[in-house]
Amino acid sequence: MLSNPYFKKLKPSYLFKEISEKLCMFKNNNPARTVVDLSLGNTTYPIEKELSEHLASVAYKQSSKNGYLGYGPENGSATLRSKVAKTFYRSTISPDDIFISDGIKCDLGRLQSLLGPGRIVALQDPVYPAYRDVSIIGGAAEVISVPCREENDFFPDIRSLSRIPDVLFLCSPNNPTGTVLNRKQLTSIVNYALENEVLIVFDTAYSLFIADESLPKSIFEIPGAEKCAIEFGSFSKTFGFTGLRLGWSVVPSQLQYSDGAFVQHHWRRVVSTLFNGASSVIQEAGIKALEAYSPQNNAALQYYKTNANLLKDALLSVGFSVFGGDHSPYLWVKLPKELASVDPFDFFLEEYGVAVTPGVGFGSEGEGFVRFSSFGDRSEVELACQRFASREIFVPSGAL
Ligand code: MLT
Repeated sequence: MLSNPYFKKLKPSYLFKEISEKLCMFKNNNPARTVVDLSLGNTTYPIEKELSEHLASVAYKQSSKNGYLGYGPENGSATLRSKVAKTFYRSTISPDDIFISDGIKCDLGRLQSLLGPGRIVALQDPVYPAYRDVSIIGGAAEVISVPCREENDFFPDIRSLSRIPDVLFLCSPNNPTGTVLNRKQLTSIVNYALENEVLIVFDTAYSLFIADESLPKSIFEIPGAEKCAIEFGSFSKTFGFTGLRLGWSVVPSQLQYSDGAFVQHHWRRVVSTLFNGASSVIQEAGIKALEAYSPQNNAALQYYKTNANLLKDALLSVGFSVFGGDHSPYLWVKLPKELASVDPFDFFLEEYGVAVTPGVGFGSEGEGFVRFSSFGDRSEVELACQRFASREIFVPSGAL
């Protein structure tokens, strides 16, 4: 059998795997150096003890007749769906439109079966690389970029595209730029999608970082979005479920394809065929996590927000231009032109002992930027800040 031709269009390695390998090599070659890893969005704040005890007790009960959980409903526990609707959508979304999953990345994979090959996919540039790679693996006919530049506040001006895509992926707060679409901007994109029959895939993985009530946390805060969008959400970053795996999708019952078919019917078919649901034990933990949730008492959220503030202050104080970080865990840092010729990954690692993700890894519009993640351990974040504070932007002599 011949290989899958779509793989020929992929880069040989996934961005974050490449970064981890480079970092590992640096550590092996420099065993005496203390490296601070601010490259990946990998969480470090442990889950609350109470939650972990609940998780253990549900797991333990699997050996008893009464506590044993077999397959759950295909779209997830009804209790969890109601709690997601109440916590994240103030009950403006029906629990019947919510599908519990094992995380956004897994849903992105299943999404390819929903869309089928041959689609024109529009992506923000810079972009979270999983959207690009899953679209290619899924057989997209074309992947077109919507440039998000500093002079445009990193807004994806979809109306500037010369072609109308079938699907548009949006992430807000954005990974990697850390910027958030405001109500007016998102309304304009929703209106474009309605006018042009574009399906929006909206990723809200970082929405709990939004502190300003005027900024939309969900696309469904925008009138008409229920007729053009689906949304993905996650327990990973603020509830510490990165390794446990729990998320959800919202596929509104009103959403229809141009031929009249209901997207939710197809999604239900995909989910029931390709997926037997998120782990029942983890779903029980998700219910527990939402029982007492408020942004103020979510310690992990506050921890990462403080990390983001510390990093932003430290980088600004030594002269870097920094975007994001206020309503987002990511800081998008512009490199001074004197550093144009250096490899930003090597530069930050060699000069500061800090691993970052080079902006160009997220797309050509990321050239000249690097992304800092605030999901690191506090003591390491503080160490990185001290290193930045120890001197103004360091420019290697060879780069001038
Ligand atoms: C990232 O660094 O962008 C993260 O690893 C995103 C993810 O959760 O996959």
